[in-house]
Amino acid sequence: MSQTNEKAVLTIDGKQIELPVLTGTEGHKAIDISKLFDEHGITTFDPSLGSTAACRSTITYIDGDKGVLRYRGIPIEHFDRPKPNFIEVAWLLIFGSLPTFAELRNFRNMLTDNELIHEGLRRQFGDLPPKSPPMAILSAMLSQLACYHEKFLPLGDEELFGEAAARLISKVRTIAAYSYRRSKGLPFVYPDPALRYCANFLHLMFSIPYQQYIVSEEIEDAMNLVLILHADHEQNCSTSTVRVVGSAKANLFASCAAGVSALWGPLHGGANVEVIKMLESIQSGGLKPEDCIKAAKDKDNPFKLFGFGHRVYKNYDPRAKILRAVADRVFARLKTNDPLLDIARKLEELALKDSYFIDRKLYPNVDFYSGILLRAMGIPTNMFTVIFAMGRLPGWIAQWKEQHDNPNQKIIRPRQLYLGNKRTDYVPIEER
Ligand code: CMC
Repeated sequence: MSQTNEKAVLTIDGKQIELPVLTGTEGHKAIDISKLFDEHGITTFDPSLGSTAACRSTITYIDGDKGVLRYRGIPIEHFDRPKPNFIEVAWLLIFGSLPTFAELRNFRNMLTDNELIHEGLRRQFGDLPPKSPPMAILSAMLSQLACYHEKFLPLGDEELFGEAAARLISKVRTIAAYSYRRSKGLPFVYPDPALRYCANFLHLMFSIPYQQYIVSEEIEDAMNLVLILHADHEQNCSTSTVRVVGSAKANLFASCAAGVSALWGPLHGGANVEVIKMLESIQSGGLKPEDCIKAAKDKDNPFKLFGFGHRVYKNYDPRAKILRAVADRVFARLKTNDPLLDIARKLEELALKDSYFIDRKLYPNVDFYSGILLRAMGIPTNMFTVIFAMGRLPGWIAQWKEQHDNPNQKIIRPRQLYLGNKRTDYVPIEER
């Protein structure tokens, strides 16, 4: 980041205030207002932070107008073919460069060594109601890792951080799969150390005692890609949540558990579930694609075209572009079809020629096609957002670390524009 010679001049109360203008390596300019309050007693107003750069970051770059997404400078399309392993991408995001063979091997070994969860934690699944939402379980269980791994709660030790990150990435897969098995009343199977990350996850989901689930190469590849495409997305809602919680010096487990809660929302990671619900209601005849488009445009109707629109992308989300093509590839290779894919294509076609969507630059986002692909792998709808969380975890960890490594980071504590009562007296209850 560098400061330019340019200054932004703010005129307020007849006074001129010069503000530094910053540039990054790419992307938008930023007016530095960080001293505005301390020096001039003025705040800025940006409730959804749409015009605010809340941090400096070197992890992920997005150009929303051009539909560009890069991890540590590498375009997202490079991760489609030839495919790296999700674990390699996790390392890249967290530690800043592609791992060497030795680094990758060590990290993988750490994941394998930590794939079991404490039996005490495992037993807790049994006490949960079978219909518990898997995202509620995931958030609670990630938070509870702090109860079983207290060693990792103090911050500041680089080696311990690496171990904590490996533990989280490994255990999240076991916890995620167990949340599904709990909902099905199936016995828990243990992770298989001989399997790679995605194959092991699918084994944990679908193997039953004495009958190992054999994962096909297509499905393993598709799962690997889904996780990679979700691995980071700069300062989105859940990542910002992780940063806010982490800025209070909360430990990594607590910060990531908070990220899961944010991701659960239907405007964020929960949108992939809403997309499938919408496509299914069209399939069952309850709704026509044209009705969906009409309802989404109606300002008196809270309905949204889920899987469409994005705070940053004002172009086709590059992840959706890849997922759309991969869905075609996977269905062709598996020699199957999903009528929901045809419905999704029809909806996309209608939306992309409708002036409402054109004028607002609303395009398919990552959630529009990811559910269809996950369905092809046999993943039930209530697990979609959990898989998004598994994918996003390395991003959360990377962003937590970047923030934590910044010696100048202060607790995140915005201000407000107060609209409440002016000073008023307390009235005792008997006088009201
Ligand atoms: N359907 C209908 N109208 C929409 C949609 C949509 N999906 N998305 C945005 N709009 C309208 C919005 O009502 C507004 O209209 P107007 O200018 O007339 O008031 C205009 O487009 C601009 O949208 P916005 O509300 O300013 O956009 P935002 O940046 O606040 O919200 C969003 C972004 C993703 C929350 C929103 O597009 C949305 O709700 N989409 C559906 C949910 C969804 O698919 N979420 C997943 C996002 S991608 C994965 C992730 O990050 O989790």
